Amino acid sequence: MARDGFKMVLLGPPGAGKGTQAAMLTKAYNLLHVSTGDMLRAAIKDGSDVGKEAQNYMNKGELVPDSIVTQAVIERLGKPDASGGVILDGYPRTRAQAESLDESLKNNNNALDVVLYFKTSDETAIQRLSGRRVCTECGKNYHVSNIPPQKEGICDTCQIDLIQRDDDQPETVKNRLVVYKNSTKDLISYYKEKSLLREVDGNLSAEELFSNIGALFNAEGLISDDSKE
Ligand code: AP5
Repeated sequence: MARDGFKMVLLGPPGAGKGTQAAMLTKAYNLLHVSTGDMLRAAIKDGSDVGKEAQNYMNKGELVPDSIVTQAVIERLGKPDASGGVILDGYPRTRAQAESLDESLKNNNNALDVVLYFKTSDETAIQRLSGRRVCTECGKNYHVSNIPPQKEGICDTCQIDLIQRDDDQPETVKNRLVVYKNSTKDLISYYKEKSLLREVDGNLSAEELFSNIGALFNAEGLISDDSKE
């Protein structure tokens, strides 16, 4: 169980498995999953002004401007259901975002507890993104061979067709990996300096990685598994 106000960041390249681990961790440790990618895709689906602006960047694999993303995250963290433990997935992605987040948390007498850095090879990321399929209804992620649905192409829960994300096309993936490398170098050193960064092996299977993260939580006394309370 996480203490109230617990905040963890998942940092890693596209396809590192951040969303997959966030779903597993949320369930096991009773945390709230805040994904900027999911928030932006929801805004696109709603046809809002923010969604229309974000889509231009996302389709090219570029980062959405810091101001848009930071405002959305800070608003989300101010909602009552965010007062328990929170996983931030895909935010911050730049040093400017990290500084804005720190500032906002500080104003609320809070701070980050840990940043999990999913170190992952380009080969792994590309293999995973090319085979990723998602359910537009419940948002669940599958992979055609690594984590397949029970019925090919159909969501296990919603029983509707799975789709491929627009930004999982090969050319966009290539650019997302370049953008990731350029924008996160600074971020990794920022969190290293603050002694918040913990590296995990993103190339492992989802189960192995989940178990390693649990061991890290225990070793550092960060949070405990609800089922063992
Ligand atoms: P976002 O949706 O956050 O994408 P991302 O960070 O590029 O990460 P992904 O969702 O692609 O990968 P993931 O690490 O979550 O992997 P997953 O678990 O799905 O952002 C999209 C866009 O929004 C950005 O490009 C940007 O434009 C914009 N944006 C978002 N946040 C922003 C920010 N803060 N600032 C500015 N712009 C922002 O797994 C991938 C696949 O692998 C799946 O098929 C899964 O089933 C499979 N898999 C997962 N884990 C494993 C495993 N361990 N072994 C085998 N297969 C696995």
